[in-house]
Amino acid sequence: KYTPQQEKLFEINEQAMHLFKTILFSGEGVKAIEYLQTRNIAKSEIEYWDIGFASKNIKLYDKLIAKGYQQKELLAAELITIKDGKIYDYFFDRIVFPIKNEDGKVIGFSARTLQDITPKYVNSRETIVFKKSELAYNINNVLKIINMKKELIVLEGFMDVIALKRIGIDHAIALMGTSLSEFHLRLFKQLKVTLKLFLDGDDPGIQATIKIAKKLFQKNIKTLIVNNETKNDPDELIDQGKQELVKELIDKAIHPIKFVIEKLYEKVDPTNPDSLKAYLNETFSFMQMSKDLIVNETFLNELARRTEIDLEIIKKYYNEFTTSHH
Ligand code: GTP
Ligand code: MN
Ligand code: MN
Ligand code: MN
Ligand code: MN
Repeated sequence: KYTPQQEKLFEINEQAMHLFKTILFSGEGVKAIEYLQTRNIAKSEIEYWDIGFASKNIKLYDKLIAKGYQQKELLAAELITIKDGKIYDYFFDRIVFPIKNEDGKVIGFSARTLQDITPKYVNSRETIVFKKSELAYNINNVLKIINMKKELIVLEGFMDVIALKRIGIDHAIALMGTSLSEFHLRLFKQLKVTLKLFLDGDDPGIQATIKIAKKLFQKNIKTLIVNNETKNDPDELIDQGKQELVKELIDKAIHPIKFVIEKLYEKVDPTNPDSLKAYLNETFSFMQMSKDLIVNETFLNELARRTEIDLEIIKKYYNEFTTSHH
């Protein structure tokens, strides 16, 4: 399945992962452990997720060379950089989270700053095994249990995956951002379970939810939306002790069309016909992807109620829309 070069990078990354973890539990990792405590990440979770620390005082480069790896292999793994003839570790003074593929191979890392600086996360550069559009944090664990589950929860950040696991929800992956790739679509198509899209409740999260829902709808992937009306992400909610709310939000996930109808209406000026038309056009472009008559009938009724436009007019407008947009 993998080339010898790929296997070599997996091996180096695995070694790096263990070294980062050793550093975290050494005197060099005290600040990092304190930070993880502020995030409510327990020792058992550090072990489970193989979390580590890249210290500025310990060179990973030296440790890996001592283990017999060659400089060019470390370059291929993008664990080091060479600048002006000097060798630097790529990850530096950050908490390091290994990212694994569907087989549990360590493909790369994402590293978080302890301070409030940008970038908040630094990810591995692209390598022959690390492709930034092909990340699904926790997919290795999910694949082992997905047959016993009826759904897959899709999150933005791996901190959210870690937090959900803490409250006993283990069938979740993170996109590691807000974009959905062809890789994700292929993966979801294979899994044959209902997706529950649970992104952050901030504005970018809502915009991304609509965009992603559209792609999933087009590909006929059964999806429900977790209507997260708090402005927080799942990890923040769990930190605030709102684990019951998180579970309830997941249980009560809604139809994507309902989500779009609700969210887009928040920006409508009901006294302005152009604003109403733009709203209807957008919701219709979603609805017309569904060939389900009952679903569409239900939501046309909902639109009539919401806009206070006569149902017959709404239906007529919808028919006009669908004949001119396909
Ligand atoms: P915390 O603030 O540590 O709780 O992170 P978060 O999980 O809430 O992250 P956020 O919602 O800001 O972003 C979601 C995901 O996007 C993260 O898990 C990262 O994979 C990615 N991301 C966020 N910020 C950055 C960044 O500065 N650089 C890169 N490369 N990725 C980022
Ligand atoms: Mn190991
Ligand atoms: Mn976010
Ligand atoms: Mn977040
Ligand atoms: Mn967060």
